[in-house]
Amino acid sequence: MGPLLFRHNRPGRVVTFGEYQEGGGFAALTKALQEYSPGQVQQTVIDSGLRGRGGAGFPTGRKWSFVPRDLPGPRWLICNCDEMEPGTCKDRILLEANPYSLVEGMVLACYAIGVRHAFIFIRRGYEQAAANLQRALAEAREAGLLGSNINGSDFSCDIEVHLSAGRYICGEETALMNALEGKRANPRAKPPFPAVKGLWGGPTVVNNVESLANIPDIILNGADWFKSLARIPAAAGTKLFSISGHVQQPACVELPLGVPLGELIDTACGGMRSGSSFKSCLPGGASTPYLTREHWDLPLDFDTVAAAGSRLGTGGLVVFDQDTCMVRATLNLVRFYARESCGWCTPCREGLPYVVNMLQKIEAGEGSMEHIAILQDHVKYLNYAFCALAPGAMGPVEGLLRHFEGELLEHVIGQKCPYKRA
Ligand SMILES: Cc1cc2nc3c(=O)[nH]c(=O)nc-3n(C[C@H](O)[C@H](O)[C@H](O)COP(=O)(O)O)c2cc1C
Ligand code: SF4
Repeated sequence: MGPLLFRHNRPGRVVTFGEYQEGGGFAALTKALQEYSPGQVQQTVIDSGLRGRGGAGFPTGRKWSFVPRDLPGPRWLICNCDEMEPGTCKDRILLEANPYSLVEGMVLACYAIGVRHAFIFIRRGYEQAAANLQRALAEAREAGLLGSNINGSDFSCDIEVHLSAGRYICGEETALMNALEGKRANPRAKPPFPAVKGLWGGPTVVNNVESLANIPDIILNGADWFKSLARIPAAAGTKLFSISGHVQQPACVELPLGVPLGELIDTACGGMRSGSSFKSCLPGGASTPYLTREHWDLPLDFDTVAAAGSRLGTGGLVVFDQDTCMVRATLNLVRFYARESCGWCTPCREGLPYVVNMLQKIEAGEGSMEHIAILQDHVKYLNYAFCALAPGAMGPVEGLLRHFEGELLEHVIGQKCPYKRA
């Protein structure tokens, strides 16, 4: 159980509509529709310091404030539940336990932004989560909490579930909008940003599941309460962390933002697995540069992790022990990105397979110093790709070069992988 997002959870099953309401569910929506103007809901979210949980950590309320209110035509809200970032499963786990916080959070967001029709764009494999959402939407409609004249007010909105056709690039917000419009899921040029010109050319907000599921409790308990949940003053709220790899017990937990890395591994996962010691981890999904032993006491929040040269990203930690070849781990990650490149722009389409090739050579003991220099160049070049997939793909490579140069040199000088057993 966590203090906020997981507080409604029941062991081994999804919470029911009645149980969610008994636990204070939909009270925030009732309160907002009776007492708050849309602007006040938005201002409370701005004041709460909530930052997007989908990877970039952009302030949620500020994103909403970019939506022009005076343009003719509809505005849109899209909940991003594509969740194909390797190492990340928090949105699925949240929705399999409780779909209602997201539904309530989305109605509140629609009220704040002035949206009449919202979408949940969900990964095709997330069948249980999608079924929970469909049921929750039907129950909310039946109870007058979704649809026309919500709770007897003059505000109306509805939410539709859309199953993704399924590629990693569909999670990028502009590719997602193309996919939703029935087009090939290539990213769009920015600007114009989605807040001004997004889905079918209308102003659009794209938010992550976890970001939106936080909204009801922020409205119910206030911005200061939300801020007070974090372990350090610069952060606000809790975070879902999904932790996998060489730990005793992989887990998905809700803990205050600012929890130190080592404490998270020890308390949530029972420490490293037997015979393992911590060597490194991806702190926030496969596109974030590695942290190392020196970061064991690092508070996990957006700014502190950024100052340490990485990103909190999705909070999907993948932990590696002393026997992990970091060249091989990086190769495995970049292979994924090369396969998932949408092929739209040359640096990514041609560059990522080239990086895979370099890493393969080094790992196989056929690498040279020139190959390491080429990797360094590509970390720079791939920043000029059309969307964030390619720079993200180079996150682990950047971490490899920064923290594990010695390991790279061992591969090149020894002409073999030092971790390969005979
Ligand atoms: C290749 C790629 C994949 C992404 N996948 C997801 C995803 O599965 N879920 C998500 O919320 N954000 C994903 N994002 C980030 C979204 O583009 C967007 O920033 C996010 O949904 C905004 O929500 P937030 O502000 O609430 O964090 C992805 C970005 C990129 C570049
Ligand atoms: S960076 Fe990669 S995923 Fe993004 S547009 Fe270019 S080819 Fe497509």
